[in-house]
Amino acid sequence: MKLPHKKSWSGRFEKTSDPLLERFNASLSFDQRLFAEDIEGSLAHAEMLQKIGVLTESEWEEIFRGLSEIKKEFKLGKVVLDDTLEDIHMAIETLLVNKIGNVGKKLHTGRSRNDQVALDLRLYCRKKIWEILNQISSVQKALVSTAENNLNVVMPGYTHLQRAQPILAAHHLMAYFEMLTRDFERFTQTGKRLAVSPLGSGALAGSTFDLDREFVAKKLELNGVTHNSLDAVSDRDFVAEILFNNALLIAHLSRFAEELVLWCSQEFQFIKLPEDFCTGSSMMPQKINPDVPELIRGKTGRVYGHLISLLTVIKGLPLAYNKDLQEDKEALFDSVDTILDILEILERLVSGLSFNAEKTKKANEEGFVLATDLADYLVGKKIAFREAHEIVGTIIRYCLENKTTLENLPLKKLKEFSSQFSEDVKHWLNVYNSINRRKGIGGTAATCVKKEIQRAKKILGMKK
Ligand code: ARG
Repeated sequence: MKLPHKKSWSGRFEKTSDPLLERFNASLSFDQRLFAEDIEGSLAHAEMLQKIGVLTESEWEEIFRGLSEIKKEFKLGKVVLDDTLEDIHMAIETLLVNKIGNVGKKLHTGRSRNDQVALDLRLYCRKKIWEILNQISSVQKALVSTAENNLNVVMPGYTHLQRAQPILAAHHLMAYFEMLTRDFERFTQTGKRLAVSPLGSGALAGSTFDLDREFVAKKLELNGVTHNSLDAVSDRDFVAEILFNNALLIAHLSRFAEELVLWCSQEFQFIKLPEDFCTGSSMMPQKINPDVPELIRGKTGRVYGHLISLLTVIKGLPLAYNKDLQEDKEALFDSVDTILDILEILERLVSGLSFNAEKTKKANEEGFVLATDLADYLVGKKIAFREAHEIVGTIIRYCLENKTTLENLPLKKLKEFSSQFSEDVKHWLNVYNSINRRKGIGGTAATCVKKEIQRAKKILGMKK
């Protein structure tokens, strides 16, 4: 269906628009994805207009029928749009008038595109937050299952990317569960905050019609209405919040992505990524490349960029609506699309990854990861920690000079460094004991990690 070119605001104009203006000004190419939200908002608005007597019942019915048909046509991809229509709001109104005639011209009573677009965006964000929350949970479930399936895998924990102390691989995975829990909370809170209706704010000052704003909000299952019309049409805080939530979420995911890249390298060989989510090299036949985590890491740039771009758009904007705000959409859409894609693929990656338990165990045999335990042992023998630290440091130097390890030092040798060493020290020079001694809440001991996995499963509604 081809649409007419006459603009709804053309009355005041003597000249028709320059095609360059049309192209520069239009948002239709990207905001058409708001068609469902726009129609949903219009239906609620029209029903309210009928309720307060601005539309007759038969007018409301015609508008309802017209908008419902347009929605179907959009879904079937039957609508042909072009930039002369400017944006999705004008496009749908034009389609409606084409379809049902002059009655369609009554729909915009008591409404401006300024409060209309603010509503559409809120509805869109609400829908996308639901999707993101769902996907975050799916990644969390994958993390928890992989953690549970690998409870016997020990590896070094790192600080400064230097081997530090032994941990369970499951404990490491569950760290990301925690980060994602905070992300989940943030999106939930943003979702609650944005669920208010700005309709009735008009262009900026409110409406001369006695609109029932609460009715519209209820129809749209929103929690209430906005309380200042100037703020309502110019507020994009909720978009900024989503962009920030996405930015912090991808910060977490890119940390994990970096670890996956490291862990599957020849240098680490801690994990294997599922082969159907890896790629080969066009030149080097031996390569299996971790493109997926690399892309997750790489896409962090654009997700951060969109946040900065919106913050810059709203900075210094005078009240109320300004066309600058049209620049909110591409940033929002791309950020959300990117995040949803990443969450989907990450879930598959995490579910399919396998640990090389031999390698991760072996990595604990080098690097003196039990040094802290040895110092703690001496503290148990009434030596002050600072002193114990010093003694163990000297022992390590000795080991390095003599190319040996803490575990291989005979008791006789240890006694040369401190008379407090005795037979029981061997229990402290054991990776599993080291791990299981850290049994306070949040520690790496198997009992703790199992408890945390159970807690996570309950939160996620997974079977025990
Ligand atoms: N396409 C516009 C936007 O995305 C809709 C609002 C236009 N309002 C106006 N007064 N020109 O922001």
